[in-house]
Parts: sequence; C-alpha cells; structure tokens
Amino acid sequence: HAGDAARTDLMTITRYVLNEQTKHPESRGDFTILLNHIVLGCKFVCSSVNKAGLAKLIGLAGETNVQGEEQKKLDVLSNEVFVKALVSSGRTCILVSEEDEEATFVEPSLRGKYCVVFDPLDGSSNIDCGVSIGTIFGIYVINDGKEPTVEDVLQPGRDMLAAGYCMYGSSCTLVLSTGSGVNGFTLDPSLGEFILTHPDIKIPKKGKIYSVNEGNAKNWDGPTSKYVQKCKFPDDGSSPKSLRYIGSMVADVHRTLLYGGVFLYPADKKSPNGKLRVLYEVFPMSFLMEQAGGQAFTGKQRALDLVPKKIHDRSPIFLGSYDDVEEIKALYAAEE
Ligand code: AHG
Ligand code: MN
Ligand code: MN
Ligand code: MN
Repeated sequence: HAGDAARTDLMTITRYVLNEQTKHPESRGDFTILLNHIVLGCKFVCSSVNKAGLAKLIGLAGETNVQGEEQKKLDVLSNEVFVKALVSSGRTCILVSEEDEEATFVEPSLRGKYCVVFDPLDGSSNIDCGVSIGTIFGIYVINDGKEPTVEDVLQPGRDMLAAGYCMYGSSCTLVLSTGSGVNGFTLDPSLGEFILTHPDIKIPKKGKIYSVNEGNAKNWDGPTSKYVQKCKFPDDGSSPKSLRYIGSMVADVHRTLLYGGVFLYPADKKSPNGKLRVLYEVFPMSFLMEQAGGQAFTGKQRALDLVPKKIHDRSPIFLGSYDDVEEIKALYAAEE
C-alpha cells in the first residue's frame, strides 16, 4: 500500500534544509550547518526542560553536582547551551541573547557570516509550573570577510534571512521560516529527529481568539482598550472572541499561528515601549507571521520595518490573522 511507504519516508529538518539549500548554492552548506547547531541546542534544552521538575524534586536545583558545578537555572543553562552551540558551529560572528547585556563577538578563528539573535528561554515565569516555554531565534547574514560590528544586527527585521522558535510543550515543536513560507517540525523523541509535521503553515485570515495580559488594562492606550472591548462586545453582530493567555510568547504565538486570532503586548502608561524585545522576540515572530500570511504591527508601523537603536530595545506588538490586525491598524489610524 503506497500510503504506508510514504509514512516511513520521513522529512527530517536536516533533509528539508538540505533540499532548500539546492535553491541557494552560494550558501555552500553553511546555513545547514548553522541550523543543525541550533537544532542541537533545542534538543538539549528540551531534554533539560523535561527533567526540570525531576531535578527540583530530587534536590538538584541550587545545589552543587558531582563535578562541583552549581546547578544552573534553566534560563542561564539554556543561554550557555545556545552560545556554545552557535560559536562551535564556526558559522556565526555576532550573537545577541536576551540573557547577555552585551553582544558576543565570535573569535576570528571560529567566525562565520551569520548573526544570530535569540531568546534562549522564553516564558521563564512558566518554568516552575511545567507550562510551555520556548526558544526564539532570528538570523541575519553579513558580507563575507567583513569585520563585524553591532550595527550588523541593528537592522530592520525584514532583512532577516530566517527566523523560528522551538516550543517545549506537550510535544517539542520547531517552527521555521527561511523566507519562503513557514514549516513546523515535531521532535520524535525515539528518533531524536525533528520531523516535518506542519508543512506550509498559513494563519487563518480571521480568528476567534485574542491573547493579551488584561491585568494591564488600566494603563492601556485608547486603541488597545477599544480593540479589546470590541473583542468582547462586537458591534457588527459577530460572536465575541475567546480569551487565551499563557504568558509565554512562544506558546501564545504558536496557538495564534495555528488557530488564528491576535496576540498583543501593547504599550501602557508604565511601559511606553511595551515589554517584548525587538530583536529576539518581536522580529522573529513578526517574520513568521508575515510568512504565514498574517500581519505584525507596532501601533505605528509594520513591525519588520522597525530599526532598533540598541540590542535590547522594546516595542509594542500586535500580531496575528490578517483581518484582525487590519482592525487594530484602523483603530490606530482613527486616533491620529
Ligand atoms: P522571557 O521569559 O524571555 O523574559 O519573556 C517573557 C515574556 C513573554 O514570554 C511573554 O509574552 C511575556 O513576557 C508575558 O509578560 P506578562 O507576564 O507581563 O504578561
Ligand atoms: Mn521572552
Ligand atoms: Mn527569555
Ligand atoms: Mn527574561
């Protein structure tokens, strides 16, 4: 039976990226190697995340292990894992991590042409209760042989070559875009391989869910308040939207991508630039949203057109289904 044979012909993430590479012969396999190292980091963090509850239970956290090393908090550990995986790939020159105040410049002998911006562990407040968390990354490329400077990552998100995230949830899912659509891969733990399970993800044009921390409502601006009010009391005869908010951007965006709707982290009076960081949270997720047919808006402009001034800059963000974000844009336009 032909179908059975097809089921054993697995499209692993490596096979997928190698296929893509044939379209870009100039990459000479460098991108495939870089991605393999990111995938390794994701597998390592996934396995640590799965053991986190156990480690705590048997009293490892905060104590010293047999080698005399202190057990690291999961977000610090994840950062070390990704920094090491990226540097040892020999394909990176600049790394920007949420957990490091300064950008890391890779030593010349290990230097490559890719700049990687990442949030090694997103949703840290959910670690201790076992709720989904993730890793977010974006990749820029600089001219071969050029001396890297921090300006190379202070570039608009539309110039990213690729972006993705890995969600450590009920299963471990890696969602990737190299600029021609979005694909989702699920880790088969028995194989240790990410298998293509969600080919060519497209976000529904309009959704039935909104996702926001409503505890901040008191400090929202006019358009955000109006929009959320409309979600609950639609004035066009449509049904109210459902509210879902996990508090891990990766998980909230993943659901938004698959089910449709909007995720928002708006500005408020206390944080006029919102909370989420441009380079390694807003840009990669906005890149994926656009690639899946959705939109990402800051309240002023297309999110991918932002030009960050500093590596940890923040921005308000509204992203998701095309039509839903269109409504938010109209409310901001009416405000002017
Ligand atoms: P991180 O854990 O990497 O610092 O990111 C936390 C972010 C993001 O995951 C989430 O969308 C947001 O914080 C939730 O913030 P609130 O708790 O303010 O809702
Ligand atoms: Mn984060
Ligand atoms: Mn983080
Ligand atoms: Mn953090």
